[in-house]
Amino acid sequence: MDKTRLALIGVGMIGKRHLKAMRDVEEAELAALVDTVPGVSGLAREWSVPFFETTDSMLKEIAPDGVIVCTPTEVHLEPVLQSLDAGAHVLVEKPITASLEEARQIIEKASATRKQVLVGHHRRHYGILHKTKQLLNNGALGQLIAVQGMWTTRKADAYYEPEWRKLRSSGPVLINLIHEIDTLRYLCGEVKSLSAKVSGEVRNHPKEETAALVMELENGVLGTFLLSDVTPSPWTWEHGTGENPGFPKSGQNAYRFVGTKGSLEFPNLRLWKTDGEPDWHHPMIQHDEGLPLEDAYIAQCRHFCRVIQNLEPPRITAEDATRTLAATLAVFDSAEQGKQIEL
Ligand SMILES: NC(=O)c1ccc[n+]([C@@H]2O[C@H](COP(=O)([O-])OP(=O)(O)OC[C@H]3O[C@@H](n4cnc5c(N)ncnc54)[C@H](O)[C@@H]3O)[C@@H](O)[C@H]2O)c1
Repeated sequence: MDKTRLALIGVGMIGKRHLKAMRDVEEAELAALVDTVPGVSGLAREWSVPFFETTDSMLKEIAPDGVIVCTPTEVHLEPVLQSLDAGAHVLVEKPITASLEEARQIIEKASATRKQVLVGHHRRHYGILHKTKQLLNNGALGQLIAVQGMWTTRKADAYYEPEWRKLRSSGPVLINLIHEIDTLRYLCGEVKSLSAKVSGEVRNHPKEETAALVMELENGVLGTFLLSDVTPSPWTWEHGTGENPGFPKSGQNAYRFVGTKGSLEFPNLRLWKTDGEPDWHHPMIQHDEGLPLEDAYIAQCRHFCRVIQNLEPPRITAEDATRTLAATLAVFDSAEQGKQIEL
């Protein structure tokens, strides 16, 4: 099997996570590291690959098959466009960009260069997401009527020491809620309209701290979601699954899906059905549909290689991720304009 040569651009917190995953992907070969911080050259030596301080110089010298872009969100656009122009396929971290205008530039460039752009909504690579979609689609809950979700935790004060983290572009809506919107879109369908309120008086940063959303999906399903980064609780996807060692596992569920014949807690996949007719007189019985959690970053990297080799269609394209971004940005529009946003 030919190895797919990948360069990593931006070797910070999440870049290192991709690097770790690459060790376990036999289809992948690390070809270069790029970062504006010269200290990253030490890591490049450890991996025996060349180090570059600019994307441009790396592309000229290495000509990789694909690049993984893990720079801060405001710095996604340039390395993505440069890499596409140089003939590389791209996996860019989420959000695809900070604005819809920049996201459209990426979509146009991918189409013009005929290269693939995948976006790092890594949850799409978990078996529990596919199992949930199957349960919802095969009528295990009857007709899906509504969904309720939470992502409520208190980020450590040290996290907010850098000034850029206090800005809206690094607030919990664009950093965290975007994962939830993508999860909801993937599981239940497109968001048709959305209303939101946001607040942020605890730390008094320019960014928001808390958001409450009401959504209607195109298929008529209703949804509510509560997000906050100033409230310790066991109810986030990360605490529930334990996917990230920074969030000690609580095992609690963060979502509830309710249908005409049953309901489902997620991500543990506890299915509740009545013993008999589906009405309130009958006892509810729990069915455990849970699955062990795999490493989504390994699966994502393997998938990226297989997309480059033309063996699989992309699971999340730039267009798809841009719809997730549009629904996420609508939270700010709705809160600022005090009205429901039609998407
Ligand atoms: N999928 C997820 O769950 C997840 C989790 C965390 C972060 N992210 C996303 O990953 C991206 C990076 O976040 P992070 O927390 O790793 O940030 P970070 O600040 O830890 O790392 C960013 C790295 O990029 C480097 N960099 C900056 N400008 C550069 C440039 N022009 N060229 C090359 N390197 C450059 C920085 O020196 C740094 O090493 C963000 O878009 C974020 O939203 C995704």
